Amino acid sequence: MTPTAKRILVTGASSGLGAALARRLAAPGVTLLLCARRCEPLEQIAAELRACGAEVIAEALDVSEITACSDWIDRMWQQGAIDLAILNAGIFGGRTPDGRAETPQAATEIITTNLIGAAAPALRLAELMRQRKAGQLVFISSLAAFGPLADAPSYSASKAGLTAFARALREDLLPEKVKVTIVHPGHVETRQTAQHVGPLPGMVSAERAADLILRAILSARSEYAFPFHLHLSLRGLALLPLRWQYRLNKAFRFTVRPTDPLD
Ligand SMILES: NC(=O)c1ccc[n+]([C@@H]2O[C@H](COP(=O)([O-])OP(=O)(O)OC[C@H]3O[C@@H](n4cnc5c(N)ncnc54)[C@H](OP(=O)(O)O)[C@@H]3O)[C@@H](O)[C@H]2O)c1
Repeated sequence: MTPTAKRILVTGASSGLGAALARRLAAPGVTLLLCARRCEPLEQIAAELRACGAEVIAEALDVSEITACSDWIDRMWQQGAIDLAILNAGIFGGRTPDGRAETPQAATEIITTNLIGAAAPALRLAELMRQRKAGQLVFISSLAAFGPLADAPSYSASKAGLTAFARALREDLLPEKVKVTIVHPGHVETRQTAQHVGPLPGMVSAERAADLILRAILSARSEYAFPFHLHLSLRGLALLPLRWQYRLNKAFRFTVRPTDPLD
C-alpha cells in the first residue's frame, strides 16, 4: 500500500491505532505531522518513523484545547498543504470495576476529547482543504456509534455524535473535492482495550486494524466498519425490541479500569 498523500496529519499518534497507522504511512518523501499529550512515547514513535525515511513533526498537544489545536493546524499548513488528516485521538471510560456509573466530569472529558477534539480540527482543515479543492479527512469513530454501550454511555454518545458530524460534513464537502472517510472499528488491541474488563469479541491487533483502515482510506471509502460480522450483528440487534436487546447485550457487559492519562 503506497499512499499518494505526501503530508499526513495524525492526531493521537503516541500509541495504539494512531501509532500503527503512522508506522504504515512512514516512507521517504512523506511528512508526518503528529500530536498527542504524552511527549515521551510520541518522540519515540517519531524517531522510529524518521528511521524509515519519513520527515516527522511531532507536537505535544491536547486536542480538546481547540485554540491550540487550530493554531497547530495553521502552523503545519503554512509549511505546506495537508493532503490527508486522520482524526484518531480519543479516550475511553465508563462503569468502574466497583460498579459505579461514569461521573459527569468523566462524561464531559470523553465527549470533549472524542467529539469536539475531532470536529474542531476537522472544521479548520475542511476550510483549508476546501480552498485548495483537495484533501481527505478520516474520522476514527467506533462500532459503538451503531450499538450504544450501557456501560460506556458517553463514549457511545461521543462516537455516534462524531459519525453524525462526519456524515454531515461529508455531504457539505462533496462538491468541493474534499473526501471524507468514516471508520468504525470494533475491538482493537490497544491501551483502550487494556482498560476494558469484559468480553472483547472479534478483537484484532492494532497492526491488522491499521492495514484494514489504510485500505479503506486509500480507496477513499466513504465509510468502513469492521469486523463485518460484528457490524452486521449490531445493525440487526438495533431492530429488535428493547427487552431482547437488553437480554442479548447482557453477555457483553463490562467495566472500565481507570488509568492516569499521562501514564
Ligand atoms: N481500541 C479499540 O478497541 C477501539 C475501538 C473503536 C474505536 N477506537 C478509537 O480509536 C482511536 C485510537 O484509540 P486506541 O484504541 O489506539 O487507544 P490508545 O492507544 O489509548 O490511543 C489513543 C491515542 O489518542 C491520544 N489522545 C487521547 N486523548 C488525547 C487528547 N486529549 N489530545 C491528544 N491526543 C489524545 C493518546 O495519546 P496521549 O495519551 O499521549 O494523549 C493516544 O495516542 C480512539 O479514537 C478510539 O476511541 C478504538
